[in-house]
Amino acid sequence: MTRHLLKAEIHCHIEGATPPALAATQARKYGVDASKVLRDGAYVWSDFSEFLVCYDAVAALFKTADDYALLTETYLLELAAANTIYSEIIVSPDHGDRIGLGADAYLAGICDGIHAAREKTGIEARIIVTGERHFGPDRVISAAEYAARAKNPLVTGFNMAGEERMGRVADYARAFDIARDAGLGLTIHAGEVCGAFSVADALDLVKPSRIGHGVRAIEDPALVERLAELGTVLEVCPGSNIALKVFPDFDSHPLKRLKAAGVRVCINSDDPPFFHTSLAREYEIASGVMGISDGEIDEMTRTAIEAAFVDEATRAKLI
Ligand code: ADE
Ligand code: ZN
Repeated sequence: MTRHLLKAEIHCHIEGATPPALAATQARKYGVDASKVLRDGAYVWSDFSEFLVCYDAVAALFKTADDYALLTETYLLELAAANTIYSEIIVSPDHGDRIGLGADAYLAGICDGIHAAREKTGIEARIIVTGERHFGPDRVISAAEYAARAKNPLVTGFNMAGEERMGRVADYARAFDIARDAGLGLTIHAGEVCGAFSVADALDLVKPSRIGHGVRAIEDPALVERLAELGTVLEVCPGSNIALKVFPDFDSHPLKRLKAAGVRVCINSDDPPFFHTSLAREYEIASGVMGISDGEIDEMTRTAIEAAFVDEATRAKLI
């Protein structure tokens, strides 16, 4: 049992944290027929491309700042109830723009949710602005520019999510230059749907301190060694990887092998209800299914805090 363990995560997409019951409520509220993506209390998709379409459809059910405040608070209260002290939330201003809410109101709603949850439980959270790769390089650059000028104390990082098979990292490198120059922490989805080359591209061209997933680095032993030497933290999301068929089962998942090779890894939920999981369940899987000891799980939680995009005073309080 891992209930008693302190937990932290640094990789969860806000719309991806929508409980299906909340999605159904939102659909009713706005008179939207969501039956293509939500059936019998579960999201409907069958591969990575369909997952991204489903994600965007669920995102479109949140139309106001208050909707986003409710979603964010709901997600954080569930985490806090499971002994979680810290979360980094991946948010996409493009989703705010797409529903006509606008990025500022979108972000304000998410900040309200963070403040409300912190007030009630003490849970700490920060925001990572992400560009969506499948919206193209120009949109990803706009997201970086938005993050750079946001000057919001809760916005501390920049990421790129979405369709990893679209273009090469080089096409998006400028967005990361903008975010780096603004002092934001950098992380990037790589080595999830694409292989080791994608992780190598990310290291060469973005030089992030962390990589979202990165698990397919396991296909290249020299790259695994390089990650260990650099101390790059992999935000590993085992349940997501199995649901999206990156690996066939938890036995073949490389979390333990990466850790044994000296790579810094931590446990994350990614888009929990889409993958029938939660952060608490991911910790349970690490313990009960993968056979990782409580001590090693604690070490991964510490890694998440060490890699968190927070100021040193906050980090010291969390560790
Ligand atoms: N957006 C939300 N979840 C994602 C994932 N697992 N990979 C890439 N983009 C995403
Ligand atoms: Zn992700």
